[in-house]
Amino acid sequence: MASETALEPARALSRRLHNTVLLKREDLQPVRSFKLRGAYNKMALLSADKLEKGVICASAGNHAQGVALSASRLGTRAVIVMPTTTPQVKVDAVRGLGGEVVLFGESYSDAHAHALTLEQQQGLTFVHPFDDPDVIAGQGTIAMEMLRQVQTLGADKAAKSGHKTRGLGATSLDAVFVAIGGGGLVSGVANYIKAVDPRIRVIGVQMNDSSAMIQSIAAQERITLPDVGLFADGTAVKQVGEETFRIASSGLVDAFITVDTDAVCAAIKDIFVDTRSIVEPSGAMAVAAVKQYVATHKTKGETYAAVLCGANMNFDRLRFVAERAEVGEEREALFAITMPEERGSFKRFCELIGQLPGPVRNVTEFNYRMSDANRAHVFVGLSTQSKGESVKIAAHFNKNGFEALDLTHDELAKTHVRHMVGGASSLALDERLLRFVFPERPGALMKFLSLMRPGWNISLFHYRNQGADYGRILVGLQVPAPDRLAFEGFLSTLGYPFVDETDNPAYRLFLRTP
Ligand SMILES: Cc1ncc(COP(=O)(O)O)c(C=O)c1O
Repeated sequence: MASETALEPARALSRRLHNTVLLKREDLQPVRSFKLRGAYNKMALLSADKLEKGVICASAGNHAQGVALSASRLGTRAVIVMPTTTPQVKVDAVRGLGGEVVLFGESYSDAHAHALTLEQQQGLTFVHPFDDPDVIAGQGTIAMEMLRQVQTLGADKAAKSGHKTRGLGATSLDAVFVAIGGGGLVSGVANYIKAVDPRIRVIGVQMNDSSAMIQSIAAQERITLPDVGLFADGTAVKQVGEETFRIASSGLVDAFITVDTDAVCAAIKDIFVDTRSIVEPSGAMAVAAVKQYVATHKTKGETYAAVLCGANMNFDRLRFVAERAEVGEEREALFAITMPEERGSFKRFCELIGQLPGPVRNVTEFNYRMSDANRAHVFVGLSTQSKGESVKIAAHFNKNGFEALDLTHDELAKTHVRHMVGGASSLALDERLLRFVFPERPGALMKFLSLMRPGWNISLFHYRNQGADYGRILVGLQVPAPDRLAFEGFLSTLGYPFVDETDNPAYRLFLRTP
């Protein structure tokens, strides 16, 4: 039913990290994730009577597709309860696999509660996404395949090179990296690996804003997170399972690593470079963790396997991923350059870029608008190859007569100002500039707008949906000096976290009233 997916070397990444990184290609399963394994195993083990009545689950993601496909292969009914907010593309995918979609409630927990009601009413069997021994065992088949496959890979390599070493050409793994949501995957993999070869380290990986398993293990009890980051939606789980918590906290998982959004975006790019495939954020967490592990432990010559557990990503997220991958790796440096507003200035500056020490620089961005009779401010992006280069480049510009401000790590410059250059207004007197960040979800912007009705004139508003986990908004408000106290009061009642950017140098140079 589930395919035996390939375990293949990530050649470019392995070279860069001086360790062999093997990718377990679960992104190539028929439903583009490993979830099929657990769902099918659970359903194939049901009695003929139960199977005939059909199954039910609540899911808006990969589990839904795994259950629907398994049911169609086993010739039974699958009812999939999804929140009404589920994107149409996912509803269609499940229907396309033969699942009966029931749209109910606004959140996953509403859908889950409704699924339990239907289970009782219709005599269906509930298929849990992770907290079930049969589901866990199904996910564990990934480990069984990997241990067999690495032997074949190692034996081939050793035969070619004529000798046997650990690391390159090894016939075993040093560590396996696995993403954790509810914990079914890591429980299955760890159980199998520790039973067969306990020397292999099992490393569990979570997002830093969605780490229910790590926090539960630290607290020695299952905790419920009030909120989880939505970027890696496959692993965004508020509470892990009872059985998965028992297994993950029993010592079978050797270590846990958290990764952040930028690191995951950079890993999606690394995987693309080696495979020409795009995985979803949860599917890249293991690779992000391998990179972090190697940087922390300074290992060399070891062999790691990373499970690419899924590839169901909306296309419109790619823009955000591509932008952040560059930032995550520091492949782009941003500057505000001030130069005399006179003929030949641009030309001299471009020549200087060509003469910068180090590799050839691509200009990734160049924004300018005349706003001052004597001086021009230009927003410039340049490609870089390693961390810390922007500081050296800025020093070089300054030394050669071009005043340069390094904006590479300036969140305001990267998210908003680069798209707003030329926005200085001679009318926007007494302007206060505020930057808001809030979890992105349907209706969030409208809610923000409806609260944002103060007595002050809005002189600037910038929002761009980037398919990201957080919405980012920049607002300028005209607040005359006598109103300042009242304005602070308004901000504190608004209830949204914000950063006051009124003194930010990028704002002063590109947006503020001259
Ligand atoms: C792509 C992907 N990766 C990882 C996970 C996490 O699996 P588990 O909940 O078994 O920890 C999921 C869960 O749906 C997933 O879809």
